[in-house]
Amino acid sequence: MQLKELCQQCLPIINEVGAFIRQEWGSVTDQAVETKSRNSLVSYVDKTAEAMLVEKLGQLLPEATFLTEEDTVENQDSPLRWIIDPLDGTTNFLYGIPIFAISVGLEKDGELVLGIVQEVVRQENFYAWKDGGAYCNGTPIRVSNRESLTDSLLATGFPYYDFERTDDYLQVLAHFMQETRGLRRLGAAAVDLAFVACGRFDAFFEYALHPWDVAAGIVLVREAGGTVSGFSAKADYKTGVEIIASNGRIHQAMQESTKSLARD
Ligand code: IPD
Ligand code: CA
Ligand code: CA
Repeated sequence: MQLKELCQQCLPIINEVGAFIRQEWGSVTDQAVETKSRNSLVSYVDKTAEAMLVEKLGQLLPEATFLTEEDTVENQDSPLRWIIDPLDGTTNFLYGIPIFAISVGLEKDGELVLGIVQEVVRQENFYAWKDGGAYCNGTPIRVSNRESLTDSLLATGFPYYDFERTDDYLQVLAHFMQETRGLRRLGAAAVDLAFVACGRFDAFFEYALHPWDVAAGIVLVREAGGTVSGFSAKADYKTGVEIIASNGRIHQAMQESTKSLARD
């Protein structure tokens, strides 16, 4: 499979879906918003964007199956699978905060081989494929080269439904507040990962995410020269259950600092 060509063919599809999301931004009424579960909102925009992606990516690669957030298609396992979050940062989208993304990853024989994240408002397309490097709007990107936590700007996502580890999490935050340049919570994990890939953030960590939040971003960070793991080396971070993505240089310090959150 020619991943570079496939990636180039995906970009116009992502651009079309991004244009749809931008067009709807600001006009979704409260009545059009559903609560899927605690603090998890959805509207027709997420669902329509997903249906558009499924239709067009399905035409591009008829043999591939899908794992998607909004269940507009049957989720099936197969050797070739798209992993899609049609709108990452739905709460931002609905509250008028201009940070949300489309996230499309491709898995082949259990390995993530292609990832595209579009930051919708700024129209930044971050993309990468296995052994091909990572790019933003055509320009190669790299992770940062900061060596110490002290100089590093971190991103995280606050727990919003799994509150069991809240005390440990707050202690980790307190540690990072004192030991780093600062912490940001953008509200869109795919954007956090893309920003690690292009060196805006030095590292990102979060837990209780899902595969569609992280699939594309994992490929971006790896191909941009970074490192991705769980809080412990054994954890399966592709599930999103726990993840650290960094520039590699501060990865050990990140794992050391977050080890109280490990669950295996
Ligand atoms: C959410 C965002 C957020 C993260 C949540 C995710 P959604 O995705 O990535 O940053 O903290 O855990 O669920 O629901 O907006 O697609
Ligand atoms: Ca998401
Ligand atoms: Ca979503």
